Formats: sequence, structure tokens, C-alpha cells
Amino acid sequence: MLSQRVAQLKPSATLTITAKAKELRAKGIDVIGFGAGEPDFDTPEFVKEACIKALKEGMTKYAPSAGIPQLREALAQKLYEENSVEYKPSEIVVSTGAKMILFLIFMTILNEGDEVLLPSPYWVTYPEQIKLLGGVPIEVPTSEDGGFIPTADAVKERITERTKAIVLNSPNNPTGAVYPKEELEKIAELCLQKGIFIITDECYEAFVYEEEFVSVASLSEEIKRITFTVNAFSKTFSMTGWRVGYVACPEEYAKVIASLNSQTVSNVTTFAQFGALEALKNPEAKNYVARMKEEFTKRRERAYELLKSIPYVSVFKPKGSFYIFPNFSYYSQKLGDDIKLAQMLLEEAKVACVPGSPFGAQGYLRLSYATSMENIEKGIERIRNALSELS
Ligand SMILES: Cc1ncc(COP(=O)(O)O)c(C=O)c1O
Repeated sequence: MLSQRVAQLKPSATLTITAKAKELRAKGIDVIGFGAGEPDFDTPEFVKEACIKALKEGMTKYAPSAGIPQLREALAQKLYEENSVEYKPSEIVVSTGAKMILFLIFMTILNEGDEVLLPSPYWVTYPEQIKLLGGVPIEVPTSEDGGFIPTADAVKERITERTKAIVLNSPNNPTGAVYPKEELEKIAELCLQKGIFIITDECYEAFVYEEEFVSVASLSEEIKRITFTVNAFSKTFSMTGWRVGYVACPEEYAKVIASLNSQTVSNVTTFAQFGALEALKNPEAKNYVARMKEEFTKRRERAYELLKSIPYVSVFKPKGSFYIFPNFSYYSQKLGDDIKLAQMLLEEAKVACVPGSPFGAQGYLRLSYATSMENIEKGIERIRNALSELS
């Protein structure tokens, strides 16, 4: 018998579609994948070299549960220089990717029935983790016309006695929204007044094309005290498989998160942490990230222009991340829903897109432009052709 906790658990929709596309490709079918939640660039060579060196030098044993001290120090420096937030290394904990970090944060702060505000559309994993840990996700709707930005008024309306935290994710997966500083300030002030934690997932901070990226904890010292800043090496340095993420937060919580680490994963693979350290220290790293961003900037323009020209599709131009989230409601309604639409596109057009409903947005599809320009052009053309037969 399964536990009640896992009985309702849904597998990750993004990983499911990526797996299906791979399966078709393995059969020799030419599938264009827009499902990937990872950059299509290789991890920088200097990162790999540093990891190999560490491995050869015997960094193959258990490491401290909160992360190797050099990495925590380098992260404190990074947060100070790039995000304008002063954290001590003792306020930083490294774990196996941002995903695990989020799970440990929810475990640290949630009691049964505690509510967590979730601006929607949201990344698929948040509600599942919250529910697994006894919490209740409460959606805060945003709108395409409003640039998918949560407003302080909408947040306020959903605060109850049980509200424990809000999850902010800017740049956003799936919408590509980047929250303006003024709105972040209003939301954060509200959280301060009401005693609500802020969990800010800043995994896509390196990919902002318009707007200014603002780290929530940099807004004020008081706000920093209620904030968990979550980030990872996964997207910025194309290190998704390395599983290195981190949180910066007040020391009392950092200690608990480190203890949870010690009783679950023990530590992030020791030599992988040396690779991550190199990503922060090597002077070439900034150029590497800049090249990736330059490429995404061009692809974003092209994907936006092509999708916008499909009849009955509306498209919000993403300001950050590497996703675009068009509204295909006209077509999804004809087929029943967006899951059926994504299935039809995969089976007939041989294009893999992730349906919007697992992100809380029925009728949308998420396309990742972390794929070549050629694939973007060919893939969107296939979508256009398949849809023209429906309209
Ligand atoms: C918003 C967001 N947060 C966290 C993660 C997970 O990152 P990691 O691979 O470091 O666990 C992802 C990955 O897709 C994401 O999109």
C-alpha cells in the first residue's frame, strides 16, 4: 500500500514529455524537442577539468553536509558582487540541485495545512513538493495581459491565517516573465507585515533580456531576514546533470537545512562541488554565460516572431529564462484540452511541447528555445502546418 503522501503525486510533466520524445527518436523518428528544461550547450571545459582534477586528487570521500567551505565562501562572494546581498558562508547550504533545496526549505518551514502562495502559471514541481510535505498550494493568478506579473493586491486577497510562505520565480518558468522591482517591493513589504516567508527561485537570473533582474533579498535587510534565496549551477553554467544547487537564508534555517541534508543526501558529490567552484572562480565563466545569453536572445526573437504569426495564437514576449509560453486555447478547445493538443503535435507533427495545464495554465504550451535555430524554425513550421488542418 502506498502512503497517503505519495498517492496523489504526479510525475514531472516536463520530464515525461522529454522522455517520450527520446523514445520516438530512439525508434528513428525525427522529433523536434521543445520540451527541454536545460541549455543545449556543453558544460564549460574548465569546469570539467577542475572536476577531473579534484577526482584525481582524491576528492572522492564524504564532504561537509552544508557544502565544501570553499564553495560556500565563493557563493557568499558571488551573492555580494552579483546580487548585492551580503550573506555569510554559514548562511549558505549546498544540496543536490535547486529542486532538492526547495524540498528541504518546504520541509523546514511547513506544518500540516500551512498554505503557500504560488503565482500561476508556476513551475510544475512547486505544488507537488508543497503537497508532499503537508502544505496547501494556493494559486495567485496572473494574466497574459499583465505580463504574467503577480500583483501585491492579488497576493493580499489570498492571505489567510494559515499562509506561511510565497514562492516567487523570476525570471519565470514557464512564462519568461521578469518581475519589476516595484512590484517585488510591494509584495515583499506585504510579506514582512504579515509574517510570511519569501522563497525566491532565481535559477534563471543569467538569462534576462529586458527589465532589470532584482534579487529579492537585496531589497532591504528586513526582507532578507524572511527570504530564502534559491539558485543553482544547472541553468547558468549548463550543469543540469551535476546536481549542484544552493540556498542562502538566515543561519538558524541554514543549520536545519544542512541537518536535513545530512540525514538525506549526505552531501553533493564531492568532486562535482569542485567543478561548481571553478564555475564561480574562472574568469572565462562570464564570457561563457554571455555567449549563451547572446544565442538565446536571437532565438527568443525568432521563436516569438514565428509563433506570433500563427493564426489564433497569442504570445507574450518573454523577458527572461529560455521558455516561451504561447496561448493555443483556440486549438486546444477544438481537441478537448492542451494535453490532447500536445499529444497530437507529438504524434502527428513530431514536435514535443509541454502542455500548459500542469503549470496551472490550461490552453497554453511551453516551448523551450534551448535548441538550435534550425530546430526552432522547422519545429514551429510543423506546428503551423498541423494547426492549419484544425482551423
Ligand atoms: C524554476 C525552476 N526551479 C528549479 C529548477 C530545478 O533546478 P535543478 O536542476 O538545479 O534542480 C528548475 C528546473 O527546471 C526550474 O525551472
